[in-house]
Amino acid sequence: MAANSPLSSLDGTFYKSADDFFREHASLGLTYDDVTLATLYSEILPRETNLETTLHERLRLRIPIVSADMDTVTEAPMAIAMALHGGLGLLHCNLTESEQLSHVSRVKNNVHGLIQDPIEVTADQYIGDVLTLVEQRGFSFRTFPVVDENGVLIGLLPGHTVRPRYTATKVSAAMTPRAQVQTIHERDLGKNPIATADKFFNEHIGIHKLLVVDDSDRLRGLFTISDIERIMQERHSQLKPARDEQFRLLCGAAVTATRNSTGDLDRDRILAHVSSLVKRGVDVVAVSTAHGFSKGVGDTVRLIRDNFPDLPIIAGNVTSGEGVEYLSKHGANIVKIGQGPGSICTTRIVAGVGIPQLTALYVCSKAAEKCGVRILADGGITKSGDIVKALTLAHGVICGGLLAGCPEAPGQLMEINGKLYKQYRGMGSLAAMQAGGAARYGHSSKDSVRKVAAEGVEALKEVSPPLDVVLTQLAGGLQSGMGYLGAPNIAALREKARYIQVSPAGQRESAPHDIVEVKTGN
Ligand code: XMP
Repeated sequence: MAANSPLSSLDGTFYKSADDFFREHASLGLTYDDVTLATLYSEILPRETNLETTLHERLRLRIPIVSADMDTVTEAPMAIAMALHGGLGLLHCNLTESEQLSHVSRVKNNVHGLIQDPIEVTADQYIGDVLTLVEQRGFSFRTFPVVDENGVLIGLLPGHTVRPRYTATKVSAAMTPRAQVQTIHERDLGKNPIATADKFFNEHIGIHKLLVVDDSDRLRGLFTISDIERIMQERHSQLKPARDEQFRLLCGAAVTATRNSTGDLDRDRILAHVSSLVKRGVDVVAVSTAHGFSKGVGDTVRLIRDNFPDLPIIAGNVTSGEGVEYLSKHGANIVKIGQGPGSICTTRIVAGVGIPQLTALYVCSKAAEKCGVRILADGGITKSGDIVKALTLAHGVICGGLLAGCPEAPGQLMEINGKLYKQYRGMGSLAAMQAGGAARYGHSSKDSVRKVAAEGVEALKEVSPPLDVVLTQLAGGLQSGMGYLGAPNIAALREKARYIQVSPAGQRESAPHDIVEVKTGN
């Protein structure tokens, strides 16, 4: 209806499509706060919008949010939580290769609800030993499978026996014997182990634990009724997990353009690394560097593409159409856009290069359309409104700082003046480069202290609530934006967006002003 109104040409004079707007502003680098989106006629309620994005046919996300491959953002707990809520985590590569592989396994083997390494006890231990274990490790549970020296299940120690009054009793005397313990063979878990366990608990009233065993009756896992109930509740929640065809959580991992002692690409090492990642079930690798439009990155992407024809590859970072084309020609499916917008980045200050993010996204989106690749807006996202703006041009966003304060991010809590913080540092900071990330910035880690100008800072983030709360807020903001534009899905958001530049006074007007704030939005 609105398109036919006589006033639509008036609106069109002020609120421009991406092509008209960014070409008119071709000599000005614009970023998120420099523009705002015009609202449009809508028949769409926010809750009806669909946030799914397809980055690759094997990489369908339920929400278009990816956690950054940074050593203070994404290790297994973050990657698991991201995928459980429909996004994707990119494991950083400051881990050793074997550590990174084990993080991939933790994500891919995380059948949510199936505890795959249950804490076991042995028959000859005393209840007192078990109580000490509970106390030392801070366990919130007290029921333990009992196994022999070969890991074969011989009983279950019920929680009500793990009490100080039974300290001197042996586990063998207190345990429920094997014959009375409810088990399921791992082969009978089927494609949907959670549904299988849920059915079991429905049919076995009063049983709260289900143990998984193999052919030799060795313990392979444990379901608890409380986990299953939580998961069944989660299934009704808005943010659904992002999984592969085998019902495993999606997981990405960063790889570097590693060089050997003569300065050439270490092709064997790169291939061995990617091959191990693929064997562990990784869904996508990210060749993450500060300067993706470079020979080393192009050659690395080509090497991986030639040897793993079906593996989705993310590569970057670039900010030019030629950069997108270069990486796409070398075999990348998804290109990361962003040089210098990150909250911990100093590339623009140190090197004097980089493009304000929205302009970079527009230029790269045009190239991506031509080349048939997807793009991710990487860095500079500080609020959900930025995600809405980014997705008018990109297929997904990468967030670092927004997620670094979550409990799922690596790192200890620090208390300063009564407030809790977590460390957040640029991968181009000296500390991160010394920890292994120098290749991303074209340096060797041996160089990093003396010779190299850092391109990132070490910082702190105030702790945030758990990831599910943060993502629900971000997704909610995105849905609101889509509702205002009448966009039922991300493709429609891209098509419908109309932009206008905001003056400095307009920017001030955009945030709460002329009030004494007593409570922030969330
Ligand atoms: P946000 O704004 O989400 O940005 O915190 C995260 C993104 O910043 C990039 N990154 C860096 N860029 N120097 C840079 O210039 C650095 O040290 C650095 N570390 C990370 C990266 O693209 C990340 O996803």
